[in-house]
Amino acid sequence: LKTTMILDKSYQIAKIDERIYGSFIEHLGRAVYGGIYEPGHPEADEQGFRKDVIELVKELNVPIVRYPGGNMVSAYNWEDGVGPKDERPRRLELAWRTIETNEVGTNEFVDWAKKAGSEVMMAVNLGTRGIDAARNLLEYTNHPGGTYWSDLRRSHGYEEPHNIKTWCLGNEMDGPWQIGHKTAYEYGRIANETAKAMKLVDPTIELVACGSSSSEMPTFPEYEATTLDLAYDHVDYISLHQYYGNRSNDPANYLAKNLAMDHFIKSVIATCDYIKAKRRSKKTIKLSFDEWNVWYHSNDADKQIEPWTIAPPQLEDHYNFEDALLVGSLLITFLQHADRVKMAAMAQLVNVIAPIMTENEGRSWKQTIFYPYMHASVYGRGISLKPILSTPKYDSRDFTDVPYVDSAAVYNEEKEEVTIFLVNKHLESGMPIDIDLRSFEDYQLVEHIELVNDDLKAVNTADHQAVQPQHNTNSKLDNGMLTAQLSKTSWNVIRLK
Ligand code: AHR
Repeated sequence: LKTTMILDKSYQIAKIDERIYGSFIEHLGRAVYGGIYEPGHPEADEQGFRKDVIELVKELNVPIVRYPGGNMVSAYNWEDGVGPKDERPRRLELAWRTIETNEVGTNEFVDWAKKAGSEVMMAVNLGTRGIDAARNLLEYTNHPGGTYWSDLRRSHGYEEPHNIKTWCLGNEMDGPWQIGHKTAYEYGRIANETAKAMKLVDPTIELVACGSSSSEMPTFPEYEATTLDLAYDHVDYISLHQYYGNRSNDPANYLAKNLAMDHFIKSVIATCDYIKAKRRSKKTIKLSFDEWNVWYHSNDADKQIEPWTIAPPQLEDHYNFEDALLVGSLLITFLQHADRVKMAAMAQLVNVIAPIMTENEGRSWKQTIFYPYMHASVYGRGISLKPILSTPKYDSRDFTDVPYVDSAAVYNEEKEEVTIFLVNKHLESGMPIDIDLRSFEDYQLVEHIELVNDDLKAVNTADHQAVQPQHNTNSKLDNGMLTAQLSKTSWNVIRLK
């Protein structure tokens, strides 16, 4: 068993859009209430935001956060969440069948995102509402003043516009569970007309149209094709959503699931470009993979939750080591598609299928998946290079020719740094690797970080970080040739400068 790689600074895929390291906060479970917001907590700031959580988000260096949903946005009245808090209505939140207190709304979330160093990716309700609510919200957030909605914002204490640049036209409108579910034709028409009106309010915004809520949807990829045919000229991105799980406890097959993501991305690119050809358009639609993660551990527990409570512990997956490995491979897949995938959102960020967990009135802590996400976000900025990789392959239940080693490499010209991300999926054995780095003259090895554990099912808790990065000190760089040993089932970050 051996893997070899050639990395050359002239084999470039594209400049990475940092927004691929985005995430997502939905009004769902304990993401907002008890997650980012908990007035009365010893770590709460003057607005009730937990400073310990903000610090963890900053460690992840999250460039953009999608908000407020998710399924929740499809029955959301944004007006409920602005203005004096004591006048805000309590509502039945229909998507997750909870009580929404509206203590946090648009302005508070924009404040929180600023504190966390992130931009906001705002979603509008195209389920129960439409053009009017969307254009009013945009006028409220982005228009400087002198009109009804912009002056209302100013009267709420926000003199300057928020200038939110990225907007989602609804959420998962192809899904029968979605409130206000639409056929592709119905959605394409309302997406186009909403996009048109929104760009009249603020022509500088970028718009994301809903694609399919997973590649298994029976309407995929026709939903994308019809939507884009109807809305091509006014939208900039198409969204992709996909969650993964290891329900049959077959790690070899599970760790190969980034191949399904790769196939999904390629199919959506092909669909976008078919419509481009059909319309004789010069414009290229980009991809926003704005919901992705592992999600399955909490499915049974969620069935026990009583409806109509405030912030119940919904979708609280506890991630294990193998989940972290798959998350690493999914991030590698985005880097391999840096030319077309320009945004992505790990779903979600706090408590709800999340890298960051909190205890009510207690501690905050890092799940296993925190680490590959942090490494990619912190070190994966620059140009995505195309590694020439030769690695043995295996077959699993659903996949053939699965490379044992996944790889992506990022060249940061300004900082004169190179980072190589690698996952070794071999369940029994380490993997020697030789990397030809001769085009990076005079670069030195900074460090080889790895995430390893003998137990694929090892989990982190508030008390114990069983899975956390460590250093692999056996790697060497001599005359432009790097030799390393990738540990059995490991996530690796090799940094050069
Ligand atoms: O992220 C959890 C849910 O998954 C979102 O609300 C929805 O868009 C998707 O189905």
